[in-house]
Amino acid sequence: MPTTLVVLAIALVTAAVAYYLLVTTEGTYLGARVVALLYDWSARSYDRIKNLHVVNEARHIGIPLSERLMTLGVSRLLDVGCGTGRVASALRLAGDYQGTIIGLDRSRGMLSQAAERLCPADDPTHLMIGDAQHVPLADASVGAVTCLEAIEFFPSPRDAMAEFWRVLEPGGLLLTSNRVGMDAGWLPFRHVGRGKLEALVQATGFVAVDTERWQVHYDLIWALKPHTSARSE
Ligand SMILES: C[S@@+](CC[C@H](N)C(=O)[O-])C[C@H]1O[C@@H](n2cnc3c(N)ncnc32)[C@H](O)[C@@H]1O
Repeated sequence: MPTTLVVLAIALVTAAVAYYLLVTTEGTYLGARVVALLYDWSARSYDRIKNLHVVNEARHIGIPLSERLMTLGVSRLLDVGCGTGRVASALRLAGDYQGTIIGLDRSRGMLSQAAERLCPADDPTHLMIGDAQHVPLADASVGAVTCLEAIEFFPSPRDAMAEFWRVLEPGGLLLTSNRVGMDAGWLPFRHVGRGKLEALVQATGFVAVDTERWQVHYDLIWALKPHTSARSE
């Protein structure tokens, strides 16, 4: 084969691999630092690209989450991988929940966008830099954990799930999204796809696991940490 063709083939394969690792899977297989760095770079355009619809956000997150938080008497919610503050915004705009919200993210860029959007001066949302697999909170210190469009980017969704369990009070609420459909196929060795994340949630010990169709590429999974329980994994 002529040398130019070999060079071209190598360049094409390298570009395809780089695209897969950096764009398709958003740095997931390169470690948590790379994921955070990529989010730092894209933080300013994140909300514009997502173009979230306020009515959909209220219908699927703000209202149902607020209702559950009120029913369970939750006073502290942790949003893991909070990004630009989606859960806090949905709750403040559409729900009656007045409790504390703690937003945890590994990307400073995303957190600074969240700070602009949520105006912490008049909003009791606390933003924290940190890793989902080492949540800087005490055991059983929050009444709810949410994690939207993020768990598939963590190096070990299993370890993250164990952290969600650890920081949740008995009786606490879990809301996580699950990557499904064609997009899930691009993320091998992750707990994605219908049934797989539910299995992890159940194996961790959560009960009342309920899947709700949400977006083309994501389901929502609701679950509860039982009042008296032992972790099964
Ligand atoms: C697709 S964004 C979702 C943000 C927000 N939850 C939403 O639904 O708009 C994924 C978020 O997870 C964060 N993230 C990724 N890996 C993380 C980790 N190991 N620990 C904490 N946050 C992480 C990213 O920085 C990013 O803000």
